[in-house]
Amino acid sequence: MTISKSIETDRTTWFRNARFGMFIHWGLYSITAKDMWYYSKEEVPREKYEKLFNRFNPIDYNPSQWAELARDAGMKYAVITTKHHDGFCLFDSKLTDFKITNTPYGKDLIKPWIEAFRNVGLKVGFYYSLLDWHHQHYTIDSLHPQRNDEEAKSGKREWSQYVSYLHGQLRELLTNYGKIDILWSDFSYEGKGAKEWESEEIIRMTREINPEILINNRLGLPEDFTTPEQYIPEDVIKDGDKTRMWESCMTIGQSWGYYRQDPENKSTTQLIRMLVDTVSKDGNLLLNVGPTPRGRIQDEFVTNLQEIGQWMSKNGESIYGAGISKFIPPTDARYTQKQEMLYLHLFHCQQGWLALPELAGKVKYATLLGDGTNLKIEDYTALSRAGTAPGIKDREKDLCVLMPAHMPDPRDTVVSLCLRPNV
Ligand code: GLC
Repeated sequence: MTISKSIETDRTTWFRNARFGMFIHWGLYSITAKDMWYYSKEEVPREKYEKLFNRFNPIDYNPSQWAELARDAGMKYAVITTKHHDGFCLFDSKLTDFKITNTPYGKDLIKPWIEAFRNVGLKVGFYYSLLDWHHQHYTIDSLHPQRNDEEAKSGKREWSQYVSYLHGQLRELLTNYGKIDILWSDFSYEGKGAKEWESEEIIRMTREINPEILINNRLGLPEDFTTPEQYIPEDVIKDGDKTRMWESCMTIGQSWGYYRQDPENKSTTQLIRMLVDTVSKDGNLLLNVGPTPRGRIQDEFVTNLQEIGQWMSKNGESIYGAGISKFIPPTDARYTQKQEMLYLHLFHCQQGWLALPELAGKVKYATLLGDGTNLKIEDYTALSRAGTAPGIKDREKDLCVLMPAHMPDPRDTVVSLCLRPNV
């Protein structure tokens, strides 16, 4: 192994092992209890939107509580919106007045956030919007809330000024808060991409300041990892014959920002299964919360995260450092694998003998991961001789596991299978 290869492995290993992180979308828009995009979709006049600035005062903000919640949910890293598309900065930037320290709250939100998350041992990342609907030199395009505002459109805009602002703010974020683990920029689209952002220069600067940082692909260049949004890919993500590191970002409801009474909140069962599905395809899950304007994470999400944490505390071994397996799971189940440990995740109730294709003779023993108890295993052929095999024909290569009468966890019961060497 060459030296550069081993640095590469070290740099990304924590991320591959972590598998589960918290995404935080927070800003002025949370006051409206609507997703940030309403600003653009409803073409809200800028003066009206920006009035929220004078009301932003998250007096209940306690990032240690967030950090403990994330840690107890089993998350290993977190990414927060330092600036979203509206241009409002949650950090104390010297390059703009449109920032948290000028709101009634008056204090940098990012510094205590970083400290709180680092204190509980989580890695930290910055989301940074490349789009900026506040900056006077950000050119008005079809996504801009002022796209039909003739007066705004007639103003002279100098793109290079915006680019130096963008680069300058990223430099601030990368230098003023200690070592950042992830730079999560957002996003490139028709007419605004790597060339316009001058992404190569951003990446050069970022890696010069912090050679180990991980950079997502939304600067319009592939960099370290791919970021499917609101879906889990069908399979591992490939680039030619190499696999790509990837992370799906998902909301619990339908909105990134705080959305009171979201009718589409996912259940804890869905969230656990989503995480498992992700890991079974070698990916990470970045699960989003949108704190309230007062600075709390809403009760429903706290419950979700606590329940995920209970499951993780028993079954985390099948998630951290685990990934894809070459074995094909039975219906309504997933496999994750870590070296010789193969983890069977059952999303349904299963009693009696369960047949696992292709595993006959390959497993030393099976354990119920949640409590560590042994589960009886037999090769299918032995069971069929005894007349007790499950009713599936031509399955000589199956291994059968005897499942207990009560599934310990109807959301996902995990069976760990210790494979024989060289399987
Ligand atoms: C999209 C949205 C943005 C959100 C992001 C999260 O790019 O525009 O609002 O922050 O997805 O991935």
